[in-house]
Amino acid sequence: MELETPRLILRCPTEGDIERIFTICQDADIAAFTTVPHPYRRESATEFVSGVIPAGWSTGSALAWGIYLKDAPQLLGVVSLSNAQDGAAELGYWIDPLVRGQGVMTEAAARVVAFGFAAYPDGLGLSRIGWEAISINGPSARVAQKVGFRWEGHRRGAVVRLGTIYDLTFAGVLCTDGRSMPTPWPGAIE
Ligand SMILES: CC(C)(COP(=O)(O)OP(=O)(O)OC[C@H]1O[C@@H](n2cnc3c(N)ncnc32)[C@H](O)[C@@H]1OP(=O)(O)O)[C@@H](O)C(=O)NCCC(=O)NCCS
Repeated sequence: MELETPRLILRCPTEGDIERIFTICQDADIAAFTTVPHPYRRESATEFVSGVIPAGWSTGSALAWGIYLKDAPQLLGVVSLSNAQDGAAELGYWIDPLVRGQGVMTEAAARVVAFGFAAYPDGLGLSRIGWEAISINGPSARVAQKVGFRWEGHRRGAVVRLGTIYDLTFAGVLCTDGRSMPTPWPGAIE
């Protein structure tokens, strides 16, 4: 299921992307803020592309798109809708540190959210998309806020990542919510 935005193509990653995924996933923020394996080995990328992604698409439980600029074949990152069930799914993403801060993930995530809410066969017909992140992850929260997510709460000391305990922040967007203007979020990203 290929998706398009003004600058980007979103499509299923292939074996040709394994080396890029391996390289990008060495990033310290991806290790700290996502659940990708750590340390991230070449076999982790191979298993992701050859096992995890096709299994997710075939069962419909986790849909992952690679992110590519229209005029360059290199994978920049991954955006996904996972835990899809009962009309709800969870948004997740990571991107190459070299292209951060250029609005790429906001553009990709907005397209995936629109696809999630679009009625079948143009989309998944979801009623809710959720997001959660370690509470100090300002860039991730900012992307979620910009694509329409509403702040829903914190859970203190709710996750351990690489030996450190963190608070989690939760947000969500419903198919009936407007998505053009960021809603106010409490905390550092205001
Ligand atoms: C989160 C991530 C995907 C964002 O990708 P990106 O392409 O840089 O995102 P965008 O450029 O679309 O937007 C980033 C926003 O965060 C803002 N930002 C950057 N650093 C920030 C900080 N320390 N605190 C708050 N906001 C910050 C940017 O200014 C920008 O907002 P703006 O457009 O309003 O100025 C990227 O940082 C990443 O891969 N991080 C590591 C993995 C990760 O954390 N994944 C999410 C797990 S929940």
